[in-house]
Amino acid sequence: MRSHEFEKLLLQKILQHIDVGIHVVDADGKTIFYNESMAMLEGIEREKVINRQLLEIFPSLNEHTSTLLSVVNTGQKIFDRTQTYLNYKGEKITTINTTIPIKKDKTILGALEIARNVTNIQKLSEQLVDLQAELIGEQEKEIAYESNKYKFEDLIGYNESFVRAIDIARRAKDSTSSVLIYGETGSGKELFAQSIHYDGSRKNKPFIGQNCAALPESLLEGILFGTVKGSFTGAVDRPGLFEQANGGTILLDEINSMGVSLQAKLLRVLQEGYIRRVGGLKEIPIDVRIIATTNEDPIESINKGIIRKDLYYRLNVISIKVPPLRERKDDIKLLCAHFIKKYNKIFNKDVWVISQDMMQAFMKHSWPGNVRELENLIEGAMNLIPKDEHVLKFEYFHGFAPSILEDESNYNDIIYSHKPLSEIIDMVERKLIQKSLDEAGYNISEAARILGVKRQTLQHKIKKYEIPL
Ligand SMILES: Nc1ncnc2c1ncn2[C@@H]1O[C@H](COP(=O)(O)OP(=O)(O)OP(=O)(O)O)[C@@H](O)[C@H]1O
Ligand SMILES: [Mg+2]
Repeated sequence: MRSHEFEKLLLQKILQHIDVGIHVVDADGKTIFYNESMAMLEGIEREKVINRQLLEIFPSLNEHTSTLLSVVNTGQKIFDRTQTYLNYKGEKITTINTTIPIKKDKTILGALEIARNVTNIQKLSEQLVDLQAELIGEQEKEIAYESNKYKFEDLIGYNESFVRAIDIARRAKDSTSSVLIYGETGSGKELFAQSIHYDGSRKNKPFIGQNCAALPESLLEGILFGTVKGSFTGAVDRPGLFEQANGGTILLDEINSMGVSLQAKLLRVLQEGYIRRVGGLKEIPIDVRIIATTNEDPIESINKGIIRKDLYYRLNVISIKVPPLRERKDDIKLLCAHFIKKYNKIFNKDVWVISQDMMQAFMKHSWPGNVRELENLIEGAMNLIPKDEHVLKFEYFHGFAPSILEDESNYNDIIYSHKPLSEIIDMVERKLIQKSLDEAGYNISEAARILGVKRQTLQHKIKKYEIPL
C-alpha cells in the first residue's frame, strides 16, 4: 500500500473512533463524513446520514439555524457554541460545538463540525444553580445556615503576616471594591472571603461561590450571566449567579482557570455594572461585589497569559495574600488547640494536648496542604483516640508523612526542574537554612554552627530569603 493511502486510512480510523463527534458536509450541504460518536450523540445511524442532504435528515433545522450550513454560507468559523437539543431518540443533549469552513484558496469546499458531549456537566451545573436559588430563597426566609458562615472571629492566628492579612480584609468588609485573595490550597482563602461578606454591610444579601475551574468556559458563562430562551437550541430562561447574588457577593474561586475570553466579558460587566444573559439583548443592572481567589502568583499568571492584565487591575483593588502554614509555624499550637476543642465537642472526646514529639514533628513538617491538612490530621486522630485518653500521640496520626522524607524527594524535583543554576542554588540554600533553623529551634547561632557558616552570614541570608523567624 502506498504510504499516503495508508495515512488516509489511518486518519479515517482515528476519526471514526475518537470520542468527540465529527460531522463534515460538502459545499452543497451533503454529509460526506459522520463518525460513530456523532451518531451516538444524535441518536441516529451513521448510514442514514452519510451522502444525504443535511436538511432532509434534520428537518427541524434550516439554513440559518444549522451551524454547518451557515458556516458553508459565510465561511466564518463558529467557536465553542453551546447547543441543547432533543436528539433522534428524544434524549436531551447538550454539546459544545466548533464549526470550521474547509477552504481551498478562496473557495469553500464544505464545513467540519466537532461536538463535545457535555450533557452530564450541563445537568449538574443547572442543578447547582437551581439549588442555589432555593438556598437563597431560604436565606431570605431567614432560615439560618449559621454553621457554614465564617466570620473574622473564626480566623485563628496571631502570626504577624496573617494578622496583617486580616487587617486588610477587615478594612475591605464595608467597601464595594473588588478583592483578590492569593494563597496556597487550604490556607484559608474561603474563610477570608466569607468573613468579608458575613461581617460586612452586605451580610443580609446572598453570598455565592463558583469555582471557575469546574466548568468548560461556555457553560460557565451561562451559569454566571444566565441564558435566554432560544439563545441556543433548547436554552431556557434562566437567571445566572450574578442576578441571584444581586446586592451581595460572588466568590470566583480559581479565577486563574477562567478562559481569557470570559475574563474579558467579566471585566466588561465589572466596568459597566450590568449583565446581558447569553443570547439576550436586555441590559440588566447588577450590584455585585466580586471576591476572586487564586492559588498561583498573580503576576506570574499575567506573565504566562493566564490572567488578563486589565482584569487583574480591576480585581486587585484590594489585595490579600494569605501566608502558607509553613510560613506561620508560630500559629500551629494555637490551631491545634482550636481544632482539638472543635472535635472534642463533635466526637464527645476529652483530649487536652498533643504529645511533645508529635508537636515537634508538626513544627518540622512543610504542610503542603496548609491548615486544611492540619485540621484533617487532627480530625483523623480524634476519631481514633479512646474516650479516656487525654494526649494525642503519634500512634493516632495515621497517614502523617513527616516532611523530612518529603524534603528529599523535593531535592530531586528542584534539581531536575530545568531552572537556571543560580535559582537552583538559591532554592537548595533556602531549604538548608530552613532545615537547620528547624533543627536548632530557631536559635541563629546554633543554626549557623550546624551549617558551618558565620552567624552574620546566616543572618544576611535569612534576610535575603525572607525566612520568617
Ligand atoms: N485561620 C484559620 N483558622 C481556622 N481554620 C482555618 C484557618 N484557615 C483554614 N482553616 C480551615 O482549613 C479549611 C480550608 O480552608 P479554606 O477552604 O479557606 O482554604 P482555601 O484557601 O480556600 O483552599 P482551596 O484553594 O483548596 O480552595 C477550612 O475549612 C477551615 O476549616
Ligand atoms: Mg477555597
